[in-house]
Amino acid sequence: MTELEGRHSIAHVRRAWYAACGSRELGEQPLAPTILGTPIVLFRGAGGSPAALLDRCAHRNAPLSLGRTVHGELECGYHGWRYDESGTCINVPGLIGEAEKTPRAVPRFPVREQDGYIWVYAEANVEPDTGPFRLPPAAQGYTEVRRSVEVESTLHAALENALDVPHTAFLHKGLFRGAGAKQRIRVRVRRAGDRVEAEYIGEPRPEGIAGRLLSPSGGVVTHFDRFILPSIAQVEYRLGEENHFLITTLCTPVEDFRTRLNAAILFRTRFPGPLVRLFIEPVARRIFNQDAAMLKRQSEAARRFGGEHYMSTEIDVLGLQIWQLLKRAERGEPPADEWRREFEMEV
Ligand code: FES
Ligand SMILES: [Fe+2]
Repeated sequence: MTELEGRHSIAHVRRAWYAACGSRELGEQPLAPTILGTPIVLFRGAGGSPAALLDRCAHRNAPLSLGRTVHGELECGYHGWRYDESGTCINVPGLIGEAEKTPRAVPRFPVREQDGYIWVYAEANVEPDTGPFRLPPAAQGYTEVRRSVEVESTLHAALENALDVPHTAFLHKGLFRGAGAKQRIRVRVRRAGDRVEAEYIGEPRPEGIAGRLLSPSGGVVTHFDRFILPSIAQVEYRLGEENHFLITTLCTPVEDFRTRLNAAILFRTRFPGPLVRLFIEPVARRIFNQDAAMLKRQSEAARRFGGEHYMSTEIDVLGLQIWQLLKRAERGEPPADEWRREFEMEV
């Protein structure tokens, strides 16, 4: 039996923008991100704007990311061929006179620097007619924290995990949910266009450490979980009047079983931002480590058994919707029809 014989929830949405790295990560040295299994070299061209090429020299296939940037041109580390931002080879050391006569080039990927990330369009040599997702700006009184990490799981499993409520009372018991008595709440799910959103109505403040830190006085939570194509997971909480958390995770499918999570966390509470950050960070890190460990084991199990065998219930709210949207996007189909559902669950 081959490892990938059975079904795995893997979609390759190539005609889409993905956050390859944070703006500050790309300096003088070229970087080598992988997106959807494709090795890419990122570098800053003339004027400092980013460029993205296939990470394979046209000459003898050496990774261009081993080279260096010279005056905004990318120089291969093997024989020194030099490329401009469009991927055209503009200099062959030692070759007299005709470097530009024969066209030599490597594929170029559309690239943008926006909202503090370098975004790469995963299809080469095309002009996309849309731009990358726009991150919500940090309004006055908000603190922003950004973190990027990689998990060993499919994009779909990572997205489902980021937007899944039932596991929080179990895998993260006591940290967030699962510390108090169960409560019955309403769930409203809406799918339209490029997104699906779940709204949780009547949820009391979670009784775990994180909930208590955020809103010691209790109160009712306004809670939305959103998936936006191609790979954005957004969780929004409002606790009482003054506490607002908006966690936008830009997921990048590195390889079939490897996903980079770029989280932009915006929050406002009645306490000073740096103080909240100090208390919340260790709890958030523990929650993340529990998720990352489980995603890895889930992914290993699916591969060991030759494929996924999933059984779902109504309270697996968004997983199936995310999958259907990803598959439509992979096939280049227009946005799905609007769809709604409402039901009750216990949290
Ligand atoms: S392999 Fe790049 S210059 Fe020869
Ligand atoms: Fe989790």
